[in-house]
Amino acid sequence: MKKFILFFLVCSISFAQKKTIEQRVDSVLALMTLDEKVGQLVQYSGGWATGTETEKSNEGSDALILKGKVGSFLNVVGAEATKKMQKIAVEQSRLKIPLIFGLDVIHGFRATFPIPLAEASSWNPALVEKSARWQAIEASSAGIHWTFNPMVDIARDPRWGRIMEGSGEDPYLGSLMAVARVKGYQGNDLSANNTIAACIKHFAGYGGAEGGRDYNTVDFSERTFREVYLRPFKAAVEAGAATLMASFNEIGGVPSSANKFLLTKILRGEWKFDGFVVSDWNSIGELIPHGVAKDLKHAGELAIKAGLDMDMEANSYYNHLADLVKEGKVSPQILDESVRRVLRIKFRLGLFDDPYKYCDVEREKKSIMSKEIIQATLQSARESIVLLKNENKFLPLKKDLKKIAVVGPLANSKDNPLGGWDQQGNPKNVVTVLDGIKNKLGENTEINYEEGCTIEGNEKDGFGKAINLVKTSDIAIVVVGESRNMSGEASSRATLDLPGVQESFVEEIQKTGRPVIVILMNGRPLTITWIQQNVSAVIESWYLGIQTGNAIADVLFGDYNPSGKLPVTFPRYVGQVPIYYNHKNTGRPYDPKNHYTSYYMDLENTPLYPFGYGLSYTTFSYSDIFLSKNKIKKDESLTVSVEVKNSGTQDGTEVVQLYIRDLVGSVTRPVKELKDFTKIFLKAGESKKVEFTITPEKLKFYDINMNFVVEPGDFKVFVGTNSVDVKEALFTVVD
Ligand code: NOJ
Repeated sequence: MKKFILFFLVCSISFAQKKTIEQRVDSVLALMTLDEKVGQLVQYSGGWATGTETEKSNEGSDALILKGKVGSFLNVVGAEATKKMQKIAVEQSRLKIPLIFGLDVIHGFRATFPIPLAEASSWNPALVEKSARWQAIEASSAGIHWTFNPMVDIARDPRWGRIMEGSGEDPYLGSLMAVARVKGYQGNDLSANNTIAACIKHFAGYGGAEGGRDYNTVDFSERTFREVYLRPFKAAVEAGAATLMASFNEIGGVPSSANKFLLTKILRGEWKFDGFVVSDWNSIGELIPHGVAKDLKHAGELAIKAGLDMDMEANSYYNHLADLVKEGKVSPQILDESVRRVLRIKFRLGLFDDPYKYCDVEREKKSIMSKEIIQATLQSARESIVLLKNENKFLPLKKDLKKIAVVGPLANSKDNPLGGWDQQGNPKNVVTVLDGIKNKLGENTEINYEEGCTIEGNEKDGFGKAINLVKTSDIAIVVVGESRNMSGEASSRATLDLPGVQESFVEEIQKTGRPVIVILMNGRPLTITWIQQNVSAVIESWYLGIQTGNAIADVLFGDYNPSGKLPVTFPRYVGQVPIYYNHKNTGRPYDPKNHYTSYYMDLENTPLYPFGYGLSYTTFSYSDIFLSKNKIKKDESLTVSVEVKNSGTQDGTEVVQLYIRDLVGSVTRPVKELKDFTKIFLKAGESKKVEFTITPEKLKFYDINMNFVVEPGDFKVFVGTNSVDVKEALFTVVD
């Protein structure tokens, strides 16, 4: 008899395994009541239900799980905590459907990596993929199934605080970074116990907020929308991203959370996305102040019909979706489709097969802050650093300096290097710049520290002590910038200057006549024109995470030759914003001999540092461009090659960048568009031939009829070390 039961069990298990995920989804769906279906589309935070209409859902989370009224939680962290809740779902609720736990793992769980904008400065997608992989290993061990990342919003306005969460201004670089992160989080097998589902956000156009003010109105043409803002999303969907998050903003009058064109026509229709879309925090509720919904019920109706599957914290689906279906306002098919999408991802994650595989306390202990992950944060931090200025080879510094002054409000900060969205990051684990320099130089150098001033305050009382210290030191390392909460969500700024009295502080330090190095720590481009003009060496470190000090010391003292390049343009002055390299030419491009051209009367058009800019301790020289053909047909490719030489005396790494310009089109085209790049290591004196292939895909754009095509005509191709210093050549595409 026993044998028979076993046989029966084995048969049914293997039958279950043979069933496709779609069949398994359907078989679960068939068992669900209306309320249970709605429950799968409800997400709450941290064990308690909150939101705009709390009265009905203000039950403890355990009760909600037991009744099958919630499908997902965010902000529940830890193998044990998630297991406790999962147990109720899969052992006590009627249908035993597992919960999915989401969290903002943006640049690390406990081991904090550099902020995403910093990592984008590495121009190294393989590095970024590895970093996401490590983040997934740590987070998955702590019960997390799903990260609300990558944030792939293109940002052309540094006033927008959330620029720090993304990969900058360029759709090509942004797409590669988006894909790298999706691959890193999701790995090759989403059902493995150390991979997590990615959520690409914020869909879409969020970075285009007017005036750079967070949550503000967005309005741009469909062409710009598709060519610039949607590109990283499309790339990430093609790479298999499991989920998306709808953005807060409207686009041309339609908020994303009620935008059928976006969530259904483009996402599901054109891109064939079959995962699910979660709202942003209460973004369904915000359809009311947006002015498209009269109440929360109406908001829910608009959202679900547009294709928004899961309600994060608005309580709209929880309170009203079942009624909307009963009243015939929302069809059962629409509801089923959303539930199907959520279940599909839960199946793909393997949660139905082993709901506890992310809840292993022993694995959690081993994975969090492992030696390997700390090493990975260091590598990532080094590659994220951008050398902005290095007059007369001022850097790297010699290690036998006798006395160093490390000054400035960020020089010994433990929490700021973590950056925004530090998740479970702990300031205790941070190596400050001061500590990093001490670690590097040991006892033989006297290293002293003075804060000098605070980040935002107006007090100059501390200047004196810092100045005196600098006067008696060989060198001054000045660490200035923004506090980490000055960028990120709801952290827009109308100015881009160093906050408080920091610039005067740098000026006073510079007046001592001692050699000065400025290290910037910030989450957005800053207008540091005075510093660029007056200080010999400037390093952009962004927020580099736990290994900040060690990475910076490696660069300062030449153990690592910097290779980072800016993923975003630095303006000279905030009035130039938005300023980005791939702008249009206009009908009146600037001509110094003609007053009636496009320029500012009180400022030059050019940026302080262009997109793609970044120095090395060595120099690279570029040969002229060689093209395999000067003429190609629309469906043909050509190769572009250059010889790059390390013309300096140190080994180094260069990011070789390729841009194109379509000279005449049925619609206007940008003056330059990044189409390819490669990162190469060259020993001092070594040369390498670098070859790029320009495929038809790289030449396509949305023509006058919104068809994505190659148009015949002349193209310029540029290759160089940044978006300005380039060699160029011409080729023609014929019909
Ligand atoms: C709001 C933010 O806009 C979004 O990026 C984040 O994922 C959610 N809150 C959840 O924390």
